[in-house]
Amino acid sequence: MSGPTYRGKVRDVYDNGDGTLTLVASDRISAFDVVMGEPIPDKGRVLTAMTAFWLTEVLDDLCPNHLVSMVDDGEHAGRAMVVRKAEMLPIECIVRGYLSGSAWKEYERDGTMHGAPLPAGLRQSESLPEPVFTPSTKAEVGDHDENISFGRAVELVGAEVADEARRISLEAYRRGADHAAARGILIADTKFELGFIDGRLALCDEVLTPDSCRFWPADGWSPGEVPPSLDKQPVRDFLEATGWDKSPPPPALPPDVVTATTARYRAAYERLTGRSLDARPAPPRP
Ligand SMILES: Nc1ncnc2c1ncn2[C@@H]1O[C@H](COP(=O)(O)OP(=O)(O)O)[C@@H](O)[C@H]1O
Ligand SMILES: [Mg+2]
Repeated sequence: MSGPTYRGKVRDVYDNGDGTLTLVASDRISAFDVVMGEPIPDKGRVLTAMTAFWLTEVLDDLCPNHLVSMVDDGEHAGRAMVVRKAEMLPIECIVRGYLSGSAWKEYERDGTMHGAPLPAGLRQSESLPEPVFTPSTKAEVGDHDENISFGRAVELVGAEVADEARRISLEAYRRGADHAAARGILIADTKFELGFIDGRLALCDEVLTPDSCRFWPADGWSPGEVPPSLDKQPVRDFLEATGWDKSPPPPALPPDVVTATTARYRAAYERLTGRSLDARPAPPRP
């Protein structure tokens, strides 16, 4: 395989030239929006296997999706999937069940979330009265995504598409959050990417993974506080302790932090799916 057609923060995308793409999830990890220098072994396999689990077992009857096949052999075994190439929407389809991240910052400042009013007196990490579709723009490389109102999304993609994107996103979040809650995991918020395949809106990209969601252990959640991250907490704790100013380059992750983080990702997969990651294909050992 020659070099990727597109290299994202975490994934490498190969255009197969036949209407399909191969999406390869690397073991790269970002924290505070900066990619670390050390890979987290098994992270790419976890992201890929988790996306496949949701698409094939929980969301398959909700709407079309881009998955064609899993890559089970070769250098990318277990870390890659072949997907239909879609005409991607120019918005990111975020759903929030809890008040966190940029939504919390806006609420604290203005009392709104993506421009829409919320009840007064909510605390950080508090459960929202109901999950809300809160889109954002898709920033060009290097920029930050910008939170937008539903009305702005309608201007960008049209009312019919915005309504359908909201319906799919809310239902996919609801199913994922219900499934996770039964296993002691809260999905605070998540980002879906939708695109058109054969004229129909389809779920694309990664789905309900640690890189596209805030996963919180249910027993670590308490409104007013920032819960630990189910997956990235060892990295965050280490970085905070170093006093790093969050601009690149980041400090090197020590081996014990890497090992602890791999264990977190594996455990997240196993808890959510009830499967062992060892049952999934892996690249041949060199
Ligand atoms: N089915 C698809 N068709 C076309 N593009 C897709 C599809 N699924 C995902 N993508 C795009 O592939 C890229 C995946 O790489 P990623 O590492 O997530 O990049 P980024 O850093 O831009 O998020 C994203 O730009 C995503 O929008
Ligand atoms: Mg991405």
